[in-house]
Amino acid sequence: MFRSDLLAGKRILITGGGTGLGKSIGLRYVALGAQLVICGRRKDVLEATAQEFKDSLGATIETYVCDVRDAQAVEAMMDSIWQKGPLDVLLNNAAGNFLARTERLSTRAFDAIVDIVLKGSAYCTMDVGRRWIASGHKGTVLQILTQSAMTGMPFTVPSAMAKAGALAMIRSLAVEWGPYGIRTVGVVPGPFPTEGAWSRLMPKERIGEAPIEQGVALRRMGEHQELADLCTYLISDSAGFITGEAVIIDGGRWLQGAAGASAYNMQQWPDSTWDSLKPKKSSA
Ligand code: HXC
Ligand code: NAP
Repeated sequence: MFRSDLLAGKRILITGGGTGLGKSIGLRYVALGAQLVICGRRKDVLEATAQEFKDSLGATIETYVCDVRDAQAVEAMMDSIWQKGPLDVLLNNAAGNFLARTERLSTRAFDAIVDIVLKGSAYCTMDVGRRWIASGHKGTVLQILTQSAMTGMPFTVPSAMAKAGALAMIRSLAVEWGPYGIRTVGVVPGPFPTEGAWSRLMPKERIGEAPIEQGVALRRMGEHQELADLCTYLISDSAGFITGEAVIIDGGRWLQGAAGASAYNMQQWPDSTWDSLKPKKSSA
């Protein structure tokens, strides 16, 4: 689908790029010629991922242990990154989430999520934006969102609130930073199985529920490659006129939800049920 050198010369930071979707997107970026930088809190995870990139693609990537909740640590990481050259793309992917009843959440639990997802994304974005504007460098921020940013979501309220804030951030900055040639875009993934998300959001207590696929119009989960392709397009120069937009890639999940359970039920009706609803032809 893409030229093999599509991202050649682009220097890209993926926060939380050591695991899950961030790692899959990073693999795609490197395969298309990008110079990749990843960060996360766990050194061993980052090092194992860097080794995987070396083994599978023969590529050396940069890794930084950095907690994006710590603004000073973010600034120090960006200083080190910039010593080797400016970033062209920031991908805000790092996130935290878990299932909980909101009235039982401690303030520390609320902060843990909001600090990673909202503040962490903001600290990274503000830092790179400051550097890009000061040097006249054009760049792109790609924010990973969730459906809950648009619709809200029970039992993951801090995440929904934080992602909604991140959506507001990319829409606001699209206008504020547009004149500098900085684009701010987002993606809204539906269900893409990862260890990090599934271990926290799909506990064994949920076994026996209707399968997730039933709530997706296309009746399947997403494949990492599909998300990586969209994330490639959005940061490429081909998408140079897109800004402030969050692209939904969810197999029609949120629209299936909006249609309600009865839509799914009606899709199971046999022909005879539909036939019985037709007006009877009068014999006269
Ligand atoms: C209630 C919880 C909790 C839970 C933690 N806490 N887990 N409260 N229910 N399940 C509380 C703790 O008791 C503590 O509060 C506070 O949160 C901080 O907990 P720590 O363990 O000290 O936090 P920390 O080590 O910073 O870890 C952050 C974390 C953790 C978010 C809690 O899960 C994490 O590191 N997650 C990163 C990866 C991740 O979540 N990936 C999934 C992204 S999926 P007290 O008051 O007791 O001190 C995603 C998908 C979206 O976003 C949509 C999918 C369809
Ligand atoms: P994941 O593997 O758990 O990814 C989260 C990453 O963020 C981890 O690598 C984690 O590494 C890093 N991280 C967490 N807190 C951090 C912090 N404070 N500082 C720096 N890094 C931190 O889960 P995933 O499913 O791939 O999620 C990736 C993104 O996709 C998230 O934004 C998520 O909201 C979004 N998303 C996922 C789905 C899905 O179905 N999987 C759906 C919609 C949206 P460390 O723990 O080592 O720090």
